[in-house]
Amino acid sequence: LASIEVDVASLEPGMSLTVKWRGKPIFIRNRTPEEVKAAADVPLADLKDPVARNANLPAEAQATGVDRSGGAGKENWIVMIGTCTHLGCVPLGQAGEYNGWFCPCHGSVYDTAGRIRKGPAPENLAIPTFSFVSDTKIKIG
Ligand code: FES
Repeated sequence: LASIEVDVASLEPGMSLTVKWRGKPIFIRNRTPEEVKAAADVPLADLKDPVARNANLPAEAQATGVDRSGGAGKENWIVMIGTCTHLGCVPLGQAGEYNGWFCPCHGSVYDTAGRIRKGPAPENLAIPTFSFVSDTKIKIG
């Protein structure tokens, strides 16, 4: 299947879901207000990879909190391909120094917006093409 639809109605803030899309894990998370704020407060200059890596935006878009999320009004939502940009392990959620994702293979640390902050991974976790087909349904692909 080229695209999938995922019902996220049951995901309260602070809850995550992993689905499979094109053989890859996709992390979907309804971030807490604290997680959204923590990501938004980081100056771009502090980021190892300042590029959004968001397939829904121009290639040069910056890795701001909102441009790593579901967009304006949907900043709580995170949708990412769950493979570490180092060598492709699957990071663990809500782990690591920034309480985002932590890759146990070689210690890459991602923040609450899935941006690489420490360790060997070169890029932020990639954001696939996705859209909200309703307030509670996300189409991926
Ligand atoms: Fe994730 Fe190496 S594969 S840190």
